[in-house]
Amino acid sequence: MKKLLYIVVAIVAVVAVVWAFSGKSNATKNNALIAYFSATGNTAGVAQNLAAATGADLFEIQPMAAYTAEDLDWRNDKSRASVEMNDRSSRPEIASRVENMDQYNIVFVGFPIWWGREPSIIDTFLESYDFNGKTIVPFATSGSTPSTDEAAESIRAIVPGANVMNGARFPNDVSADELKTWAGEWLK
Ligand SMILES: Cc1cc2nc3c(=O)[nH]c(=O)nc-3n(C[C@H](O)[C@H](O)[C@H](O)COP(=O)(O)O)c2cc1C
Repeated sequence: MKKLLYIVVAIVAVVAVVWAFSGKSNATKNNALIAYFSATGNTAGVAQNLAAATGADLFEIQPMAAYTAEDLDWRNDKSRASVEMNDRSSRPEIASRVENMDQYNIVFVGFPIWWGREPSIIDTFLESYDFNGKTIVPFATSGSTPSTDEAAESIRAIVPGANVMNGARFPNDVSADELKTWAGEWLK
């Protein structure tokens, strides 16, 4: 009889431990997505480091038509980037969709700063899903713009039902440790 009691207690303990651990992972990385756009690779590097540091899913926002060096010429006001960014209603097409966005409640959105804010293709991304009630955490790389504050303001106007954080601008060589600590605020 005593032996049976030990077996029951052991089973209950194992089930409790498994349940506790699965619950923990459901509340963290499994609910977080890192979605990023990168024209020349800098933001891609940071996004990949962030994914490796946190274990969150990674999705690349790929334009239907890739940006050429000519397209990115910010000194030319006729370049594709200039034309798109001068038109607030511009929504460059994205090549693929996130499968079941419903499973994520925190979305880290990464991009290069273009003229102080998020590139128009990020606006396309934001309008492609229902972000109501989700938390959006912007992150960016830039030449010198020091923060994502202006981008966060712009993003809030596009997805008013989301909880949009101010986010952060990182240098291209930000360490995985720093990214992990930063993301830890939302991935408890
Ligand atoms: C069209 C265009 C506009 C840019 N505007 C800014 C800007 O306003 N401020 C800034 O600091 N850097 C600006 N940059 C530099 C990029 O933000 C920077 O190089 C970034 O790291 C590129 O990221 P990516 O390699 O992921 O595309 C601009 C670059 C491009 C191509």
